[in-house]
Amino acid sequence: LTAQHYDIKRGDYSKVNDVDIELFQSVLGDRVLTDPALVEPYNVDWMRIMRGQSKVVLRPKTTQEISKIMRHCNGRKLAVVPQGGNTGLVGGSVPVFDEIIISTSLMNNVLSLDETAGVLVCQSGCVLKDLDNYLSERNLMMPLDLGAKGSCQIGGNVSTNAGGLRLLRYGSLHGNVLGLEAVLASGEVINSLSTVRKDNTGYDIKQLFIGSEGTLGIVTAVSILTPVRPKSVNVALVCCDTFEQVQSVFVTGRKLLGEILSAVEFFDSSCYQLVKKHLSLSLPLSSHHQFYVLIETAGSNHSHDEEKLSLCLEELMSSNVIINGTIATDYTKMKNIWNCRELIAEAINKEGVTYKYDVSLPLKCMYELVDIMRERLKDKALCVLGYGHIGDGNLHFNAVGGSHSKELLDLIEPFIFEWTADRKGSISAEHGLGFKKANFINYSKTDETVSLMRRFKDLLDPKGILNPYKTLPRIH
Ligand code: FAD
Ligand code: MLT
Ligand code: ZN
Repeated sequence: LTAQHYDIKRGDYSKVNDVDIELFQSVLGDRVLTDPALVEPYNVDWMRIMRGQSKVVLRPKTTQEISKIMRHCNGRKLAVVPQGGNTGLVGGSVPVFDEIIISTSLMNNVLSLDETAGVLVCQSGCVLKDLDNYLSERNLMMPLDLGAKGSCQIGGNVSTNAGGLRLLRYGSLHGNVLGLEAVLASGEVINSLSTVRKDNTGYDIKQLFIGSEGTLGIVTAVSILTPVRPKSVNVALVCCDTFEQVQSVFVTGRKLLGEILSAVEFFDSSCYQLVKKHLSLSLPLSSHHQFYVLIETAGSNHSHDEEKLSLCLEELMSSNVIINGTIATDYTKMKNIWNCRELIAEAINKEGVTYKYDVSLPLKCMYELVDIMRERLKDKALCVLGYGHIGDGNLHFNAVGGSHSKELLDLIEPFIFEWTADRKGSISAEHGLGFKKANFINYSKTDETVSLMRRFKDLLDPKGILNPYKTLPRIH
């Protein structure tokens, strides 16, 4: 879909001209892309649903280069969209019209690592998996993990406040990020790159940039806590027939596994059908069931952890909470189970046009939403799926259609947002609002809060050049 499919007008921004390109080249040399074939991939989002019409991609390597670019763009009122790994799922990372794309992909240096305190400082374009590999050689790890780790960048993670697969254990980036550096629309560099764990000197400005989706500044460097890499990791996969049983797995897991519990993820049988169909994956279980729950433990004593997990499974079996289950202690089996969960998004993308939702809900009514939607959409959707981070109360509801269908969209929205708001949930648990959900912010935030957000935006970016049409509701 391109801008013409939406009822939205291009903002009053300048258009890039030859003089602008010359200025960019004087700062970046040949790291200015204008060849349409090279620019194209930056215009299209991961879901291949949104397509911008930018004609320029800038590939800075340093904060100073970004500062010079922004100073010029602000002076000329040229709109920009910051882009990391372009794995965002709400249309935030691609232009809507012809915004200039500022890609952080070449800003991929580790700046320092304090192995004693476990604090990493790096540029924002470092790929999450590369950082985790770098840390694993030093017995440390990144405090977050997500299916997109091979492409997403730490700057993108921070800008979306990405949750992921281990938030249950390590908490959100609001707690793990110790500091950051960001360039404002004016080109001013805000260096808030603290490496200390405790710092109560006034307002915690970095928090504003965490989760602001590139609308307040471009994050150029991040200082982040790196936990010790656990010596022992085990994964159990269990099956249930009802969602009540899935909830009981979580409750029992928390009770019996305590401090070693590191993830509790679930997916329904429709998800499993798709990973089998498109990615030829299969679970190490003989029977098929309605729900699959992945439980991971991470600790320091293998035999202790394994024994605890076995006892947990025995308890779940004897109390008829689970129908079947298996424990994986070797890497290949664990990886296979994790793949079935992590690659669901990829499998869905191969099935058709995806309508993707990411909501926080009380656990007790979480899957009810999927059942209601299945009934509501009936044969209008090719399939309806539910999966997510059960330990974080975060449901991913997806519906897949054969082609773009306004009828299908209208059956889902705003119904799903109303349903979620009625249960005091959040309409975006982790993916952010981006372009797709910005106009629905009021289902999760009060008018006064949105108005304060707008005042922050006006203060930091008075001309509105940073990622326009995103996050804040659009005023028509
Ligand atoms: P991009 O997609 O490039 O950008 C995302 C947003 O951040 C855009 O608004 C962009 O303008 C802004 N941005 C990017 N870099 C900067 C910067 N340096 N400064 C300012 N703004 C910036 N998300 C989760 O929360 N949990 C998951 O479990 C999860 N799993 C995923 C699995 C798959 C397979 C995929 C494709 C996506 C998944 N996501 C998940 C969504 C996505 O990966 C995350 O939102 C990720 O944090 C985005 O990082 P990125 O570098 O790709 O950012
Ligand atoms: C996930 O948990 O798999 C991601 O958030 C991606 C998705 O929602 O599809
Ligand atoms: Zn997720």
